[in-house]
Amino acid sequence: MKELISIILAAGKGSRMNSELPKVLHKVGGKPMLQHVMNAAECAGATKNVVVIGYLGEQVKAYVGESAEIVEQREQLGTAHAVLQAKETLKDFSGTVMILCGDTPLLDAAELQEFFSTHERTHAAATVLTAVMQDPTGYGRIVRDADGKVLKIVEHKDASAEELAIAEVNTGIYCINAPLMFEMLEQISCDNAQGEFYLTDIIHLLVKNAKLVLGVKSKDATSTLGVNSRQQLAMAEKLMRERTLDRLMSQGVTIMNPESTFIDAEVVIGRDTVIYPFTWLEGDCVIGEKCQVGPNVRLYNVCMGDSNTIQYAYAHDTHIGEACNIGPFVHLRPGTRLADDVRIGNFVEVKNSWVGDGSKLPHLSYIGDTDIGKKVNIGCGTITVNYDGKKKYRTNIEDGAFIGCNANLVAPVTVGENAFVAAGSTITKNVPSDALGVSRAKQSNIEGWAKDR
Ligand code: UD1
Ligand code: CA
Repeated sequence: MKELISIILAAGKGSRMNSELPKVLHKVGGKPMLQHVMNAAECAGATKNVVVIGYLGEQVKAYVGESAEIVEQREQLGTAHAVLQAKETLKDFSGTVMILCGDTPLLDAAELQEFFSTHERTHAAATVLTAVMQDPTGYGRIVRDADGKVLKIVEHKDASAEELAIAEVNTGIYCINAPLMFEMLEQISCDNAQGEFYLTDIIHLLVKNAKLVLGVKSKDATSTLGVNSRQQLAMAEKLMRERTLDRLMSQGVTIMNPESTFIDAEVVIGRDTVIYPFTWLEGDCVIGEKCQVGPNVRLYNVCMGDSNTIQYAYAHDTHIGEACNIGPFVHLRPGTRLADDVRIGNFVEVKNSWVGDGSKLPHLSYIGDTDIGKKVNIGCGTITVNYDGKKKYRTNIEDGAFIGCNANLVAPVTVGENAFVAAGSTITKNVPSDALGVSRAKQSNIEGWAKDR
């Protein structure tokens, strides 16, 4: 097979999105649409992606970085003109180009790979991926002759009544011989209803030059769905989500209510984990086996091992070991790392802290910038006082320590191994190992005071 390079069109205005963000950077399944397209092209065998930018191109360029080659289309004169911008970059390339649009996030990489190999096997000059649509409105129609050979593509706005009745449409995805393509592109005119240089005209030009052009029907018309509006963005999101949930269920994950479960495309979940309703798993989440996640859990970039239970919680950029029990009403903030068998209970916030094996933070605490050892008990209402208004300091609570209820640990401070802190204490000095730290006013009772009042 010849070498494959993709050209991804992403210069269009996307006016119907009504957005300050370029259309292709709008996210579906947690990732920009353009990223899905670049990934699919690579999976299909592309050794390089060339992205054509234009409208709000700086933002697209900044996103793409080094991951693809960028060419600029200064004026949006049509799809043929857009592809032509890659001519200089690909002047020494004699292989096959796959043309894709940056706004089709649901592409099926396996189908694209098959599409490419069909193109190579048949030695076609160009192969166009088509789809049969119940409502073909707006799409270019595939016109075939009596033998079923592709003759040309007619844009909706240029089509005759007879052509408008054709249900087979152009998905905008093509494989085409690179040098031949650039030669033909020069010959395309803008003599049509929209006054644009149509890439689709290349099909008729090739046919006129007695070149073999094939039309391959896509098996799943939804995979080439283009996003032009927020409504279509929501539709793509829904389809992507269904796909992700379907994958996870096949991999042995129980999703109790798919309609109220929102999982980004690349999230990994182990077997026999149960996802309860109203759960969001976003970004790069990795969830182990046999966990119970939800209801009402939002996790962003959270990595957790097996057999954890988490409910009514929000955690981000957090690492969780095994067999932890978290929630309800917990906030785990960036830099938090829980070891195994940790209990984080009701109304507890943990930030940038380590919590060792078997430690318990069961109720109403703020723990920030703290290192907690193994088998530590943090009493109800304990607060680490990590901030003096200018700087943040760490608290260190060593293995086996017991912090009584409603203690303030004023950082920087260390509570040593197996030490105790008396309930209600404000600790400003280190408590040595095995000691008791007490710092509270002594109680005195005034007999009969209430009656005399
Ligand atoms: C195009 C096809 C149509 C096909 C449909 C599939 C043409 C003439 N028509 O129509 O046959 O059914 O896609 O979705 O090709 N773009 C640029 N520069 C430009 C113009 C467009 O980069 O000057 C990009 C857009 O950002 C978009 C893609 O090309 O990603 C397609 O352009 P769009 O205007 O959406 O074409 P359609 O009218 O949808
Ligand atoms: Ca389009």
